[in-house]
This record gives sequence, structure tokens and C-alpha cells, in this order.
Amino acid sequence: MEIIKVRNYEEMSERAGEMVIDTIKQLNQPVLGLATGSTPEGLYQYLIEKHKNREVSFKHVTTFNLDEYVGLEKDDINSYNYYMNEKLFKHLDIPREQTHLPDGNALDLNEEASEYEARIKNAGNIDLQILGLGLNGHIGFNEPGTPFTSRTHIVQLDESTRQANARFFISIDEVPTQAITAGIETIMESKQIIMLVSGENKAEALARLVNGEVNENFPASILQKHDNVKIIADEAACKLI
Ligand code: F6R
Repeated sequence: MEIIKVRNYEEMSERAGEMVIDTIKQLNQPVLGLATGSTPEGLYQYLIEKHKNREVSFKHVTTFNLDEYVGLEKDDINSYNYYMNEKLFKHLDIPREQTHLPDGNALDLNEEASEYEARIKNAGNIDLQILGLGLNGHIGFNEPGTPFTSRTHIVQLDESTRQANARFFISIDEVPTQAITAGIETIMESKQIIMLVSGENKAEALARLVNGEVNENFPASILQKHDNVKIIADEAACKLI
């Protein structure tokens, strides 16, 4: 694991943006794994800016998001589908059919999970996966206790995760209780992983990820076993390492 310490959120977003653009320029058919949440917003703004300045095209890029809530319509303002369209896709030249999110409204969610898995495989697996870090160590929506051997699956969201995400909803009651997420093994098959960590509230989680034991009770700890992980973390998040 390589830890890249940066001053602040802006620098974290820029460094990650440069790495994403390098990958896009190097590969003929790059496959990106994307996350939602607050952490990657600055990265997405950076990519949009570079695209607007005609420095990069996304026409040849394929994307797979990590997760989606179960039970929200695609155009619900809290769905990750809506988030991705608003915060990234609609500002780029990426063909919409090359962007993928799990369908949290599928009639048969288990079938959707295995099809999503197959779509990632058919695309040749993820070249570069962007991750955020959950306060409880989750990656994607793989909550503590998820087997390291998990593939894309349906999860029951931890109460702490629902509370952490309630800031985006009118009230906690509206936060879905389930999600569909790429599994830990799915994430670990990515050729390269960049994890972004910002803010003092993530310091404890980051310290446990870097120095703690590899344990299913702290899902992100598995990253210690991946041979191409870069963690870009700001000063506040690095307080305990
Ligand atoms: C989102 C995701 C989650 C977030 C994590 C951190 O697609 O997979 O694991 O990365 O919950 O969220 P933020 O960035 O909002 O602190």
C-alpha cells in the first residue's frame, strides 16, 4: 500500500484526477470503478474541468459503480444513478450505455447481482477502482462482517451507515435499509485501486486500515493484501498515522 499524504481535499481530488486521466490516456478501453458519497465529488469536478478544457475525452471509457440503494427509482434525487448523472456523466462525452450501476429496483435482485458481476467480467474487470472509506471500515456497501470472498450481493445497511448517509435525505426514515454492492472479492480483482480519505472524522478508520489487522470486521483492511493500492489522504485524515 502506498500512502500519499496531501494537504487538503482539493489536493487529494487533483492528485486522484491526474491518476485517472493518466489511466484513461494510457489504455485503449479503460474500465473505471466509481464510488459515490462526498469524498469523490472534487475528483469528479476535476475530471469535468479537464474535459471542458478539451484535455481529455471519455468516449472510450467504461464505468461500473460500486453500489446502489435498493428501492429507489433511478431518477430519485438520492439514488446513486441520479448522483452519477448529475455530478459526472452528463458533463462528459461518455456514451451513457458505457456507464453501469447495479439496478436497485430489479425484480430479482440476486439475479441482477450476478448479472452485474458478469458485466464487469465481460468488460475485462476494473482497471482502476476509486474507493471512499466508511467510518466503520466499509468499502462499497460491504459492512463489517462481510466475507472477504463476497461477490456482488444484496446487503442490509448498518444503522451507523444509514445515519452517516441521512444527511442527504429529508429524514433517517427515508434512508433505504438495503443496497446492492460489488463484493469484496469483486473489488479486490481491480487491477489498481485508489482510495480517497479526507477529514478528521476518518482518521481513526484510516489508522485501522493502515495499521490494524486484516479482519472481516473491518472490511477495508483487506486492501493491505492488494498489490496495487494507493491511498490519497489529507492531513486531517492522517492525524493518527
Ligand atoms: C459509495 C460507497 C461508500 C462510500 C463511503 C464513504 O459508493 O461505496 O463506501 O465511499 O461510505 O462515504 P463519504 O465519501 O460520503 O464519506
